[in-house]
Amino acid sequence: MKNALTFVCALMLSGGSAWAQTASAAAAQPTPAAPVVVAPGIQSQNIMDVKPEASADPAYASQTNGQRAQVQPGNNAPMWRQVGSGVAGYSSLPVTQAPEAGVLIQPFVQYPGSRLTNAGEAWRQVRNNWLIPYGGSLLLIVLGAIVLFHVKVGPIKVKGELTGRMIERFSAFERSAHWANVAAFLTLAVSGLLMAFGKFFLLPIIGTTLFGWLAYVLKNAHNFAGPLFAVSLLVVIVTFMRDNLPAKGDLNWLLKGGGVFAGHEIDSGRYNAGEKVVFWGGVFVLGLTVVVSGLVMDKLLPGLTYERSTMQIAHMVHSVSNLLMLVMMMGHIYLGTLGTKGALDGMRTGFVDEIWAEQHHKLWLDDIKSGKIAAQRTPSAKLANAAAGQPVQV
Ligand code: HEM
Repeated sequence: MKNALTFVCALMLSGGSAWAQTASAAAAQPTPAAPVVVAPGIQSQNIMDVKPEASADPAYASQTNGQRAQVQPGNNAPMWRQVGSGVAGYSSLPVTQAPEAGVLIQPFVQYPGSRLTNAGEAWRQVRNNWLIPYGGSLLLIVLGAIVLFHVKVGPIKVKGELTGRMIERFSAFERSAHWANVAAFLTLAVSGLLMAFGKFFLLPIIGTTLFGWLAYVLKNAHNFAGPLFAVSLLVVIVTFMRDNLPAKGDLNWLLKGGGVFAGHEIDSGRYNAGEKVVFWGGVFVLGLTVVVSGLVMDKLLPGLTYERSTMQIAHMVHSVSNLLMLVMMMGHIYLGTLGTKGALDGMRTGFVDEIWAEQHHKLWLDDIKSGKIAAQRTPSAKLANAAAGQPVQV
């Protein structure tokens, strides 16, 4: 890193002449302006093609540095054109660790309908002009919709008297896996939101010094919580996968929106179709996408060549999948806390009242009653229930 900075600084101070020397072989032989493919479907034009002066006098545009110095001393535009076309100079950094160290800036690209721009600048514009405003708006819209739903429709209450007969819903292992994953998720969500949006809502309040320190601490917390999230996510996926497999009645549940507006819930197994959508869409697909793209940005995925474009693509995939995952998890967190009375108790203590099970997951309760599923699956559940004076079987 230090070497790279020295290299860049040396270039700046020498007006680029250091780089020009190392790239002199290429500079001495002006190449025809062949388009360079930088990404599928996108061709970067050699910058020599598009300068107004190039159309006025092609020979002028193809001058070498030396030729230009004779007619316009001090004008080193030819060298900067070569820099812009992605020509590699010399760097003492090992190619294995820094494959692009000799390339001062990424080649210029021209996206359809936009002006010629550097690829890094294009990435910055997509981040600042698309991901941040539209992503931020999406999060606020979903938050607003949840608040509106809570105010207008309200939480799903337990209908009828509690029976006092407790049924084990989650084993200690399942709860530990879930809450470990939640801890990592919340760390990542808070630090990620600060990195993306903090400068708009927090910086003006707490000022640059405090914000700088906070961003520094949370950015490091993000890097460490990422691998923890990856491991706990895999455990959650394996642990909860079986009961999230599609089952008869799921489509009916989805078509009727779970029955939320009909005033009664549609019967479901251990997890309803809404929970299954969150599991497969939010946890499995988006969760794994977030993890893989995050590991790429941490340079932890083996076998990849880590170039600037690798980071830019990984960053965009990471941002989009994160925003979508956050949206789904906002719904999950609402329904798991304020939205469904008694749901959090199940994930906190491991037990739910029989009437809660009947109201929310009737088919699951039927299976327990018929003996198809054991009501007490862990020995600790039996002991805990017995100690609390609760019946050990429904
Ligand atoms: C503050 C954050 C969270 C809270 C309060 C929360 C709460 C809950 C609650 C109460 C349940 C039980 C629902 C039921 O009994 O049917 C549950 C289930 C579950 N949660 Fe969370 N959760 C949170 C975050 C997460 C995260 C980040 C993930 C994974 C990325 C996750 C994955 C799951 C899974 C897989 C289940 C099992 C049910 C299913 O498959 O849909 N949760 N959660």
